[in-house]
Amino acid sequence: MLPVLGQIRPWTDPALTSMGRLPMHVPMVRAKQVSLDGAWNFIRFDHPDDVPQDAIAGPLPSRQVQVPGNWTMQDTGDLPHYTNVQMPFDGPPPTLPHTVPTAVYRRSFDVPKAWSGTQIVLHVGGAESVHAVYVNGAFVGYGTDSRLPSEYDVTAVAKAGTNEIAIVVVQFSAHSYIEDQDQWWMAGLHRSVWIESRPLAHIADVRCRSQYDPREGTADVEIVAEVGFACPPAGGWSVRSTLRSPKGKTIGRPVVCAVPHRHAQPYVFAGHTVNGRWHLPKAEAWSAETPNLYEVTCELLSAHGELIETITQRFGVRSVEIDAANRRLLVNGQPIWIFGVNRHDHHPDRGKALTPGDIRRDIEVMRAHNITAIRTSHYPNADVFYDLCDELGMYVIDEANIESHAYNMTICDDPQYRQAFVERGARMVQRDRNHPSIIAWSLGNESGYGVNHDALAGWIRQADPSRVLHYEGASFHGDHVAMGDVIADPSRPYFTAEVLRDPENLQWICGGAHATDIVCPMYPSIDSIRQYGERGLGARPLIMCEYSHAMGNSNGSLADYWDVITSTPGLQGGFIWEWKDHGLRRSLPDGSKRLAFGGDFGDTPNDGNFVADGLVSAEVEPHPAMREVAWVYRPVTVTLGGSKRSPTLVVSNRQSFVGLEAYKLTWGLRVAGELVKSGTVKVPAVAPHSSVSVPLPCAVPAGAGEVHLSVRVELKKDTWYGTAGHLVAWDQVELRAARPAKLGRYSPNDSPSEVDEVLSSPVTLSLWRACTDNDGYKLMPDLSQRMGIGGQALNNWLKAGVDRLPADELVTHEWSRRADGSSVEYRHVVTVPDSLADLPRVGVMFGLPGQFSSLRWFGRGPHECYPDRQSSAPLGIWEGAPDRSPYLVPQEFGLRTDCRWFECIDPEGRTLRIDVLSPGAMHMSATNFRPEDLYAAANEADLEPRDELIVHLDVAHRGLGTASCGPDVLPQYRLASGKYEFSYRLTLC
Ligand code: GAL
Ligand code: MG
Repeated sequence: MLPVLGQIRPWTDPALTSMGRLPMHVPMVRAKQVSLDGAWNFIRFDHPDDVPQDAIAGPLPSRQVQVPGNWTMQDTGDLPHYTNVQMPFDGPPPTLPHTVPTAVYRRSFDVPKAWSGTQIVLHVGGAESVHAVYVNGAFVGYGTDSRLPSEYDVTAVAKAGTNEIAIVVVQFSAHSYIEDQDQWWMAGLHRSVWIESRPLAHIADVRCRSQYDPREGTADVEIVAEVGFACPPAGGWSVRSTLRSPKGKTIGRPVVCAVPHRHAQPYVFAGHTVNGRWHLPKAEAWSAETPNLYEVTCELLSAHGELIETITQRFGVRSVEIDAANRRLLVNGQPIWIFGVNRHDHHPDRGKALTPGDIRRDIEVMRAHNITAIRTSHYPNADVFYDLCDELGMYVIDEANIESHAYNMTICDDPQYRQAFVERGARMVQRDRNHPSIIAWSLGNESGYGVNHDALAGWIRQADPSRVLHYEGASFHGDHVAMGDVIADPSRPYFTAEVLRDPENLQWICGGAHATDIVCPMYPSIDSIRQYGERGLGARPLIMCEYSHAMGNSNGSLADYWDVITSTPGLQGGFIWEWKDHGLRRSLPDGSKRLAFGGDFGDTPNDGNFVADGLVSAEVEPHPAMREVAWVYRPVTVTLGGSKRSPTLVVSNRQSFVGLEAYKLTWGLRVAGELVKSGTVKVPAVAPHSSVSVPLPCAVPAGAGEVHLSVRVELKKDTWYGTAGHLVAWDQVELRAARPAKLGRYSPNDSPSEVDEVLSSPVTLSLWRACTDNDGYKLMPDLSQRMGIGGQALNNWLKAGVDRLPADELVTHEWSRRADGSSVEYRHVVTVPDSLADLPRVGVMFGLPGQFSSLRWFGRGPHECYPDRQSSAPLGIWEGAPDRSPYLVPQEFGLRTDCRWFECIDPEGRTLRIDVLSPGAMHMSATNFRPEDLYAAANEADLEPRDELIVHLDVAHRGLGTASCGPDVLPQYRLASGKYEFSYRLTLC
């Protein structure tokens, strides 16, 4: 049996959050810190009760694993397990399964002689789920919360020379019930471990506070240094604090303060803390656009004036507040757009053990796509993450590691879990409060709303009034009675009859005000947020904590969300769900490798590929929707203004603090897709949140062809997220529309054509697409069909036989053709019955031999686009190879909308050209897959490209929507029943 732990069995007790753990503090780099990262000896048991005493101090086990690392990723026999809402084992809380994998990590460490007479502290960066520490066989302490560090004083048990350390990590505990986030269940020491020596009197914490007045540009800075005494506190100690500006200049004089030490009058003793204060008449405020960081150095001086220790902290001067009258979140007095994304820690090989380089890469790729805000869904990250956000410039919502999704309505009110709620949130604040990038504290995710939340909210409001609170559950489940004062205000008629009739909006207007200052719904419809904005009720801005679910081919209507967000008061943006697919690399017996999702490791129960819902792949390869993200989040927009006779370009700056000096604007004029002229747009200064009109840079050329003007906004200089020339923003305006197409006279014939000879499969009607994750979960039919979760389109199509029956049997299809040597013209009339409204597509499909492997087209591009995800895809003449399938679970991909013509070219230059005759444009794709190939495959690794180019020409194609979690395709992007007419010419040239 394990000493102490074996008797107390703390992992079973939700109310026991730690033993012997030191108080949390801001991260500090100390002179004497020795890393214990690397190989640790490792042994695994089926249950903590099975761990014998000699496992922590006896002979070393021979197997080794890496720290930081998850043992579930290191061939130990335990594998990752994916569930979303459901727990991986039966409840109710705090019941634990029969098997509770438990590992003993062992290694030795050296304590230098020079450390004698100091305090020796062990730092455990993160352990999933709970852990206990033994040094030289003696129990030292126990900690919970997988996503925050724990520290223990090991002075009494460590000795000079070699010491033995054992960390026992228990995979499942009573605390697992509040770590029920939608992600892989892992296990192990996934963040760094180190040992450090602190002087007996040392700096225990440094809290950097500032009051910034955006109108005056002044600030008051207060630095609170707390001195820790691991010995009886004595008099004579002092702290000298030196403040430096963002440019490194010392500000004013260092402030020296005596450390109070007397407990003689306990009722006035306020702790061993000293406060340094500075007034900044010209403060350089921090924002994500101007990431100015001040630095403070605190030096601890002994009674003899000897310098004992130096601690440095970086912080920012900035304000965060809610402008209740206008329902706006303000940073430094200005509204900011939340161009946000939700980010989990994930690496395909290392699971939860990320390196600083991995984290930086995520942030760089985000920023290169104009993402400027991150919610740390759903737990605090390693502190390097926040350092980078401070330094590079990102707004952050820092989220406490609390999610009790499977027991959504009970744990939040369960007194056994009260301490855990408060402590998880409070310790997050205690660690992270110096980071200016953090603008809101989140009380966690999907844990209902109960007294435990209010307890935590109360703690944070008192400890850190400088930020706002965020908790989705409060504005979802919250009782409006909690609104207190606001409700009592007779000047604000919240409870109109209309409001009372609409319970959802009522919660948003006033629900859960103790626990959230922001209305932060997940996956609301565009209409519902518009309605909240337009009603003008309540005091809170609406920022979606999750929206636009990026599972597979998705993010339909992103631009429709932003049309409403930017034009409706009270709306400020949101966080896309989510940044990265959580694919995990798995080796198959044949040696091949592939990315796994739920179930691939034999994990049951599981939620399949619901874990592959990122804007980028697990390897940070952007999915095509990232172009749309970059476009909707662009910092500069260009639209057509003026009048029809004298049009202008309106250049708008959507940033909050800086002008457009960093960017160069160029224009390009396209006639019938062809670039005919280009130049530089001269733009005068454009203040934040304002616009200027500039004359059109060129005249509209005479003639009949359609004319488009594109403006590109590029970086002038290299920055941390892009090199000079990086495309930051782009827009296209139409200066002359295409003439509507008129079909000429035509008498069909049945002559053969050279085109027929080259086609590898003939032109056939096509109504089916390999369903997207939004159409329905093809791999989770039970969820889709029996439980009715997610998009229902796929179920309807399967019932109607759209996947199997010849298209001609489902709809009325009249067609004719006229061949003429090297070309053939087709005309089709398709009538879709009412019973088949909302089809995937109406169009035709044919094949070409595989050597047709270059494409050129006049349409939208260059990237994949769909009718409800094409704002980022300007019209032009584009070229490229057929797309590879971009999604982990194969599905429809590769469309280009509004094509006027399309060419498939072989290496000899032989070209099959498609000219759309009517209507003026059609949607096309050309890939090496048939819909049935994509539909049949469960994993990208199973796809075999055909030696054939499969071409689709659609007169209509269903949008994407986000029904895998959220609203389905909007009516205007669906295919109504009725008549579809189209015509095109194929020419071999
Ligand atoms: C939300 C949840 C996320 C994730 C997402 C669906 O409900 O907060 O953690 O599960 O839905 O992918
Ligand atoms: Mg959840």
